[in-house]
Order: sequence, then C-alpha cells, then structure tokens
Amino acid sequence: MIKPDAFADGHTGAILKMIEEAGFTIKAMKTVKLTAEDAGQFYAVHSERPFYGELCAYMSKGPIVAAILEKENAVADFRALIGATNPDDAAEGTIRKLFAKSLEANAVHGSDSDENAAIEGSFYFSEIEKI
Ligand code: PPS
Repeated sequence: MIKPDAFADGHTGAILKMIEEAGFTIKAMKTVKLTAEDAGQFYAVHSERPFYGELCAYMSKGPIVAAILEKENAVADFRALIGATNPDDAAEGTIRKLFAKSLEANAVHGSDSDENAAIEGSFYFSEIEKI
C-alpha cells in the first residue's frame, strides 16, 4: 500500500517507478479510501498493540493505493526496498527514507510473509482482478 500522506503529497508516481525499476511486476492496483473499520480489519493482527487505534484512524484519513506485486523473493526484496518501519532507521535510498514523514506516516506498507501477502491481496482484490 501507498499510505495517505505519500499519496496526498503526490509521491505515487515516484514510488511506483522505484518499485518497477527494482524488478517488481504490478499484478493488480487500485486507489481506495478505507473506513476506520476497514483498516481495523486489515490490521487486525495488531489489535492488541497500543498504536492500533491511531494506525486505523491514520490509514482511513485519505486515499491510498493498494497493489499486488510479483517478483522472486518479493517479500524480502520489497522490505529491503522500502526500508525500516521507522524512517529514522531507514537506509539511504529506500522508499521510506525518501518519502516517509514519521513512524505513522511511513509512506508504504509491505506484507511480511507470502502467506500474509495472499491474505492482504484478497482483502483488496477479487479473483478476476488478480491477473
Ligand atoms: S513491522 O514492520 O510490522 O515489524 O512493524 P511494527 O513496528 O510491528 O508496526 C506495524 C505497523 O504499525 C505501524 N506503527 C504505528 N502506527 C502508528 N503509530 C505508531 N506509534 C506506530 N508504530 C508502528 C507501522 O507503521 C506498521 O505499519 P505497516 O503498514 O505494517 O508498515
């Protein structure tokens, strides 16, 4: 996902360019605006974390881009491309180093496993949208 601030600030094109230049294929993509309930469902795994309410409010504050990406070793390579969750810790040249504003507004989300990527892809896309 490209998160609300990165989308609102006009970084979508630059982020997608970095993703494609890193060798990922965009298999599905759409712009959506989540409700707080939608975000709560997406981030249910974090429901016991202290920041859950803020995270759900943040992710529903404006449009986002959701996409399914394909690549060998996609999960690890995407996490390397986006950088650490906290932009203060993100390496130079990573998407979060370039475009994140804070730990909350950290520009992008990437799935943390192939299994979760499949679940998260199905949150946004029907079978016929997955090309
Ligand atoms: S990670 O990458 O899953 O290990 O990161 P983690 O620290 O577990 O954080 C999970 C997601 O929660 C977001 N987050 C926060 N949002 C708002 N406020 C605070 N304090 C906060 N801390 C963490 C973080 O950006 C992760 O979002 P995603 O979309 O999964 O990257």
